[in-house]
Amino acid sequence: MLIAGTIVAPASPDEWAGRDPMKWLYIYGVDGLSVSGGGTIDGVGQEWWARSCKRKKTQPCNTRPPPRALHFEECRGVSVQGVTLQNGPQFHLSFTRCVDVKASFLRLVAPADSPNTDGIHLNDSSRVQITDNLISTGDDCVSMVGNCSDVRVRDISCGPGHGISIGSLGKNRTTDRVENVRVDTCLLTNTTNGVRIKSWQGGMGSARDLRFESIVMKNVSNPIIIDQYYCDQPTPCANQTEAVEVRKVEFVDVRGTSATARAIKIACSDTAPCTELELRNVNLTVVGGGAATASCYRASGKAAGVVAPASCLAKGDP
Ligand SMILES: *[C@@H]1O[C@H](CO)[C@@H](O)[C@H](O)[C@H]1NC(C)=O
Ligand SMILES: *[C@@H]1O[C@H](CO)[C@@H](O)[C@H](O)[C@H]1NC(C)=O
Ligand SMILES: *[C@@H]1O[C@H](CO)[C@@H](O)[C@H](O)[C@H]1NC(C)=O
Ligand SMILES: *[C@@H]1O[C@H](CO)[C@@H](O)[C@H](O)[C@H]1NC(C)=O
Ligand SMILES: *[C@@H]1O[C@H](CO)[C@@H](O)[C@H](O)[C@H]1NC(C)=O
Ligand SMILES: *[C@@H]1O[C@H](CO)[C@@H](O)[C@H](O)[C@H]1NC(C)=O
Ligand SMILES: *[C@@H]1O[C@H](CO)[C@@H](O)[C@H](O)[C@H]1NC(C)=O
Repeated sequence: MLIAGTIVAPASPDEWAGRDPMKWLYIYGVDGLSVSGGGTIDGVGQEWWARSCKRKKTQPCNTRPPPRALHFEECRGVSVQGVTLQNGPQFHLSFTRCVDVKASFLRLVAPADSPNTDGIHLNDSSRVQITDNLISTGDDCVSMVGNCSDVRVRDISCGPGHGISIGSLGKNRTTDRVENVRVDTCLLTNTTNGVRIKSWQGGMGSARDLRFESIVMKNVSNPIIIDQYYCDQPTPCANQTEAVEVRKVEFVDVRGTSATARAIKIACSDTAPCTELELRNVNLTVVGGGAATASCYRASGKAAGVVAPASCLAKGDP
């Protein structure tokens, strides 16, 4: 499929009346499709963002998820290369239950304050390569949820936005399993998080065998963050004992500046502490000068090479 011109979405959400509000360009069940051509997909999300409860704090506002710009479900051997996706009402490019996926040489662009406009979102997908992309949106540059495995994210310029995220996992007590993910050679600028693993209390499953390597942070809030207490709802989340296990996670050659004093934040649960974490050659300072800090709760592993701020991981993994 060649996209050489511009595909423009209807500007008004009212156009979706009587239709599935979660779909715009929706491709189901394909095997071996390649999308390229240098063109643009414009989701014209402005009116959707204006009506979102995340932005509009008075009623009526829209709580339902708006359409994703380009959404693949149940696919195999799909590649999307060399196109621009912009101003998505919600996620720009997403894959649910897909295998053997390639997403490269893409520009994904939306304003920093546009809600839920993730660049690339994966759910229940495996053998995915996300490389050579410029992503500048209002939410995660890359996010993955559900059961995802064998994912490679490389050569990404990310920001502004919320950074690169595994999770949120375990929402509503679900079992999610994310494994064998490698993120390397990325530049993150002005993002609200750097590399992040987040899970809800009460979830089950695991996030393991993850490696973040050669990452440069520029003015990033929370450059390294693991949060097993994620809670993105107006009311506080109930404390629960189950947690998505986080194990074998490496942060290697991560350097640059943090917009917040605390550059490393690792908050794990009492019942499922994070284990076998590694910080190797990490050097993060506060933007404008000054030493950063690190905080850990129920997290163990090792530090190697230069680690600044000093590692807070407890020693003593089995
Ligand atoms: C992931 O996709 C499944 C369908 O395969 C859906 O039920 C679930 O809600 C999705 N999860 C998220 C976080 O979107
Ligand atoms: C994810 O994997 C877990 C454990 O292997 C399984 O229980 C769960 O049903 C899977 N979820 C999906 C959506 O396939
Ligand atoms: C998921 O949890 C939210 C609150 O955390 C609740 O409002 C919602 O009903 C739950 N959904 C399901 C399908 O259990
Ligand atoms: C980061 O934010 C600063 C301050 O708003 C801005 O001057 C700079 O251009 C931004 N950098 C990028 C790469 O967006
Ligand atoms: C860093 O980001 C903050 C917003 O988080 C912004 O206000 C500030 O201008 C940025 N500083 C630089 C040096 O880019
Ligand atoms: C969860 O536990 C923390 C720490 O013990 C406590 O401060 C908080 O109030 C509890 N939250 C709820 C919703 O019970
Ligand atoms: C860490 O980075 C800062 C700022 O770039 C630099 O001045 C410092 O020498 C580095 N520390 C080490 C131990 O490499």
